[in-house]
Amino acid sequence: MIHSRNRRLRVNESVRSLVRECSLTTSDFVMPIFVMEGENKEEPIASMPGIFRRSIDLTVKECKELFSLGVKAVNLYMKVSDHLKDNTGKEAWNKNGLMQNTIRAIKDAVPEMVIMPDVALDPYSVYGHDGIIENGKIINDATNDALARMSVSHAEAGADIVAPSDMMDGRVQVIREALEESGFTDVGILSYAAKYASSFYGPFRSALDSAPKDNMEIPKDKKTYQMDFHNAREAMNEVFKDIEEGADIIMIKPGLPYLDIVSKVREAIDLPIAVYNVSGEYAMVKAAAQNGWLDNDKTIIESLTCFKRAGADMIFTYFAKEAAMILNR
Ligand code: PBG
Repeated sequence: MIHSRNRRLRVNESVRSLVRECSLTTSDFVMPIFVMEGENKEEPIASMPGIFRRSIDLTVKECKELFSLGVKAVNLYMKVSDHLKDNTGKEAWNKNGLMQNTIRAIKDAVPEMVIMPDVALDPYSVYGHDGIIENGKIINDATNDALARMSVSHAEAGADIVAPSDMMDGRVQVIREALEESGFTDVGILSYAAKYASSFYGPFRSALDSAPKDNMEIPKDKKTYQMDFHNAREAMNEVFKDIEEGADIIMIKPGLPYLDIVSKVREAIDLPIAVYNVSGEYAMVKAAAQNGWLDNDKTIIESLTCFKRAGADMIFTYFAKEAAMILNR
C-alpha cells in the first residue's frame, strides 16, 4: 500500500497556492525601453512585435502607464543618430544628449520610477562595439574611463541605478570611484556580471542598429569581452569580482537558456540577482504565439515565474507591460 502521495498537495487551486514556493508580481519587472530623437514619434521593431522605439514625449507617457500598472523600474537604451557616433563614444556623456534628456523627463513626470540607464558604448560606437578600438583591439582601461564619465552624466541627470552591460574588466570599481568622487554616493550599480556572447541579442541589435560592423579591421563579434557560453564556473569568478568592486545588484544574461547560472549564483551570494529575458527570447515566444503554436499569456507567465523559481529577484523583460496587464486582471 502506498502512503506517500504527492498529488494530495495538487488537488485544487487553493491547496496548490498554499504550498507554492515562489510568486510573480509586477514589482519584479524592469522594462527595457528604446528611445529615439523627435517628437510624437513611434516606430515598431519588426523582430519584436509589440515593442517600439519612441521619442521622449511618448516614452514619458509609456512610463506613466507602466507605473500605474505596477512596473516600477525602466532600463533605458538610446537609438543614436549615425552622425553622433565615433570610436570614443563621447556622445554618451553629453549633458544634453538623448539619454540625459530622457532621464530628466522621466524623473520629472514619474519621480518614483526607478531609472536604470544602460551603460555601454555600443549604441554610440561607429564600430558597434562596447569598447574603444585601437589597432583592431578593444582597449579595456580607456573604455572604463569612458564608462565612468557616462555613468556620472547619468547620475547628474537623475539616474537611480546605473547598469553597465559592457563586460570590461574592472569597470565596476572605476565607475564606483567616479560616482563617489562626484558625490553620487546613493546611486547604485547593477552590474552585468555574467553576460554571455549570445545569438539571442539579434533583435535588440536591429532595434538600435548596434551590431558590430562588418569591417575587416575590427573584431567581428564580442567574444573577447562577453563570456563563452560553454562556461559556468567562469560566471562565478565574474560575479565575485564585481561584488568586490562594489556592485549592488548582479545581473545574469541571457535568461531562459541560462537558468543554471542563475541558480548557481543564487546559492553562492546574498546580493539581489537580476536576470535579463533578452530580445531573442521575446521574439521566440511572440513568433510562436502569433502562429498559434503557443498560448501567449500562459507562456509569458510561466517563463517569467521560472526566473523567480531559479532564484532571481528581478527580471528585465520586454514582456513587463503585457505581463503586468495579465497579472492585474
Ligand atoms: C550591449 C547590450 C546588448 C543588450 C543589452 N545591452 C547586446 C549586445 O551585447 O550586443 C541585449 C539585450 C537584448 O537582447 O534584449 N551593451
